[in-house]
Amino acid sequence: QSHGDENVVWHRHQTDKAFRAQQKKQKPCVMWFTGLSGAGKSTVAGALESRLAELGHHTYLLDGDNVRHGLCRDLGFSTEDRRENIRRIGEVAKLMADAGLIVLSAFISPHRQERQLVRDLLPEGEFLEVFVDTPLAECEKRDPKGLYKKARAGEIKQFTGIDSEYQAPDSPEIHLPAGEVSITELVELCLESLKQRHIIR
Ligand code: PPS
Repeated sequence: QSHGDENVVWHRHQTDKAFRAQQKKQKPCVMWFTGLSGAGKSTVAGALESRLAELGHHTYLLDGDNVRHGLCRDLGFSTEDRRENIRRIGEVAKLMADAGLIVLSAFISPHRQERQLVRDLLPEGEFLEVFVDTPLAECEKRDPKGLYKKARAGEIKQFTGIDSEYQAPDSPEIHLPAGEVSITELVELCLESLKQRHIIR
């Protein structure tokens, strides 16, 4: 490394990403769950995190509602705010992957461009887009928080799928038919994919 002062030498830290990954017997990655409100993102990501923990893996779940109470409490649901929300979460996910974790993030992240932005932050193969593909009609039928009802009544504006666009992924690494298949089976699909990619053994 070039530096004006010959006594200042570059210090290569011993505990780098590869070392941490080897120590944890897992490869770090960011599993980026995307889908409509009520699609089951948090439920599947939470169930997957429990299974991974049972198998001895180190994980962290970044969850929509929780992050919006802290890190992103100043942001709403306009296009610009959603972009900033995803940008911040992407940077946090990147730091956590650098610490060697399997990061699970569960945000609507409705725009392809923002998801691409997060993908571009990470090394090749470390960003896994997980499409929680539950049709709008099914999400609306479930309506766990009563938000679709409010959106239809005009009480919530810019609600994803109603008066704000959701852009489905074109080629997600993992496609979950979450409207038709049980949570246990969806978790199995995720685990198989992680094994195939040598992220876990
Ligand atoms: S985004 O689009 O990625 O920035 O959204 P996210 O951070 O995942 O937050 C989604 C949760 O916020 C609640 N909520 C809304 N969602 C969509 N549109 C509008 N206008 C809105 N207002 C509040 C809603 O409970 C979402 O929760 P989930 O878990 O996705 O159902």
